[in-house]
Amino acid sequence: MKVAVIGGGVIGGGWVARFLLNGHDVTVFDPAPDAEPKLGAVLGNARASLPALYDRPPPAEGALRFAADSVEAVAGADWVQEGAPERLEVKRDLYAQIEPHLGHGTVRASSTSGYKPSHLQALLHRVERLIVTHPFNPVYLVPLVEVVGAGRTPEALKTRAAETLSDIGMHPLVMQAEVDGFEWPHE
Ligand SMILES: NC(=O)c1ccc[n+]([C@@H]2O[C@H](COP(=O)([O-])OP(=O)(O)OC[C@H]3O[C@@H](n4cnc5c(N)ncnc54)[C@H](O)[C@@H]3O)[C@@H](O)[C@H]2O)c1
Repeated sequence: MKVAVIGGGVIGGGWVARFLLNGHDVTVFDPAPDAEPKLGAVLGNARASLPALYDRPPPAEGALRFAADSVEAVAGADWVQEGAPERLEVKRDLYAQIEPHLGHGTVRASSTSGYKPSHLQALLHRVERLIVTHPFNPVYLVPLVEVVGAGRTPEALKTRAAETLSDIGMHPLVMQAEVDGFEWPHE
């Protein structure tokens, strides 16, 4: 599977490690000048610790690539994992940039802690393809992830997402309804 991770900070970096060390090719976009060395440190920790959790040899790592911008990052992606800062205007601008370049079947997964899927779906045209996959830190070690859709999210998308997340060693908790999480800045 081809994965794009947008935002390679605490959570995005953990997602990169989780996907990469489970054999998927990952392209990352993060505008921070020190994004690459920071991600390198996360990957070092993940390589040292993740294999100890399993009684089988890890799969061959996928290929890691850095993209110059978000549009380049999502080209041909089957799964886009958004780990951008928790600010609605940042996520809105980002979705506006990438949305025209995503395939119909591409899963748009946001890591958000505070926004409900319906808030984020309101930013998109193809609303039904967005879900929240809310992980816990560090993503490469802690397997729990909440999978949350909104009213217009097809069950099949949540099921497919849960299967993908299980395949990378996570334990998805598929939520039946969205509820308010942390306080979020209303606009
Ligand atoms: N920190 C946690 O424990 C935690 C847990 C679960 C979910 N989350 C969620 O994960 C998301 C990311 O949080 P974080 O803690 O990793 O934040 P972070 O600040 O560590 O990482 C955000 C990254 O996004 C990059 N960025 C900034 N503008 C960008 C843009 N326009 N496009 C792409 N990347 C951009 C930054 O350079 C930074 O590296 C948030 O939505 C947050 O709510 C965080």
